[in-house]
Amino acid sequence: MEHIDLHKIEADGSYIGKRVTVCGWIRTSRDSKNVAFAELNDGSALQHTQVVFDKAVFDDKALAPLLALGAAVRVTGTVVEGMKAESVEIRAESAELLGESDQSYPLQKKRHTMEYLRTIPHLRVRTNTFNAVFRVRSELSYAIHEYFHRNGYYYVHSPIITGSDCEGAGEVFKVTTVGFDRSVKSEDEYNKKDFFGRPAGLTVSGQLEGEVMAAALGKIYTFGPTFRAENSNTPRHAAEFWQVEPEVAFADIDDIIGIATDMIKSIIAHILRECRPELEFFDARFENGLIKKLQHVVDSEFARIDYSDALEVLKKSGKEFVYPVEWGLDLQTEHERYLTDEHFKKPVFVVNYPRKIKSFYMKQNPDGKTVAATDLLVPGVGEIIGCSERESDYEKLFNEIKSRGMKLSDYANYLDLRKYGSVPHSGFGLGLERMMMYVTGMTNIRDTIMFPRTKNELR
Ligand code: 4AD
Ligand code: MG
Repeated sequence: MEHIDLHKIEADGSYIGKRVTVCGWIRTSRDSKNVAFAELNDGSALQHTQVVFDKAVFDDKALAPLLALGAAVRVTGTVVEGMKAESVEIRAESAELLGESDQSYPLQKKRHTMEYLRTIPHLRVRTNTFNAVFRVRSELSYAIHEYFHRNGYYYVHSPIITGSDCEGAGEVFKVTTVGFDRSVKSEDEYNKKDFFGRPAGLTVSGQLEGEVMAAALGKIYTFGPTFRAENSNTPRHAAEFWQVEPEVAFADIDDIIGIATDMIKSIIAHILRECRPELEFFDARFENGLIKKLQHVVDSEFARIDYSDALEVLKKSGKEFVYPVEWGLDLQTEHERYLTDEHFKKPVFVVNYPRKIKSFYMKQNPDGKTVAATDLLVPGVGEIIGCSERESDYEKLFNEIKSRGMKLSDYANYLDLRKYGSVPHSGFGLGLERMMMYVTGMTNIRDTIMFPRTKNELR
């Protein structure tokens, strides 16, 4: 269908005085005695383009459906300078209704609540807010690929269906084709009847397969959907979320912290450069000072603190925490938020967590009590990255899997990597939606993903 993207007409002054054909949806409209105005958006820019209908050309009957909120139209007209600085408008000469809309259109000319918009995920994309969110999400994904590509990483595709629980947290969604069957006598019999002849689930992380690839390709990353049957209903947890997981051979914990820092700064700088109108919109509407915050992240050092020292900071804070602070504590949101929002006021790596509260694959430190693991916490969100050096010693890993009561046969391949040419290696997982919350100022993860999947919620 012949037409020009609105953003081209807005961005390129050479269209002024020219005749163009454009397409889009009516975002708002205003009817007065001699002219009518419509704000048109075709998705190519956050900003709308004003179309002016002269009533000498368009009669009221023809105009009414063209001005309906949500209608899709195709307009031919002349581009002229707009009333606002650096804007243009289109004087319509002819117009065609591509898709009608009517009074029942759920997005009316007012500011809807985020809660209401969540009930119409298929239409909320047509608001300025979600238009901006998904433009940033696209650009952020591109920035991530660009960062790793530029630095010599290979993009690998880890499986979605797996037979092992990487995090060992028991949050795996089952994959099965076998329904309820009274005649099945045992779990074993049930599993044997199932599609794979053994238990299978949706991956919680591509890490274990990522390690396989890193042991041959050196530097790799995965970037795809991961799944967790999180029972908690929080603004930061989704059952389906996207994770970026680099895995790097010949890298220790300090190396990987350096890489994570560099990547975060690089992708934020990219968004500051490429998504200015969206960030200005979020800064004005959702998080005052957002742009300044992001610029500060690019320009300043991240903090780093040992887990044990972080506990001292929490103890000295004088705060009453719901979960009491003592060594061995798995930091809760309240602790993470105090450390990053109030104490450091910037991103902070908490390093060397107790071995007992972390996953089986993490490298054991010489003290026997802690592992070479770190979480990156950021103000307003909390944890956005989970990171560690991996245990590369066969015996230690074998014993850890056994002592945690995990099934050794599920991890035989993984153990092989420690048998043949084992090397120090490290990696991390960045939650894309958590990162989205940080760069957009959205306070609920449900507003960073197209169709959020959370407990009791599947639209
Ligand atoms: O800290 P996690 O559990 O780490 C891993 O899965 C490692 N295997 C990663 C690796 O080393 N390759 O999760 C990593 C990140 C978290 O920091 C968080 O940003 C995000 O994934 N995340 C979630 N995001 C949304 N909803 C959830 N339920 C999430 N669980 C984790
Ligand atoms: Mg984690």
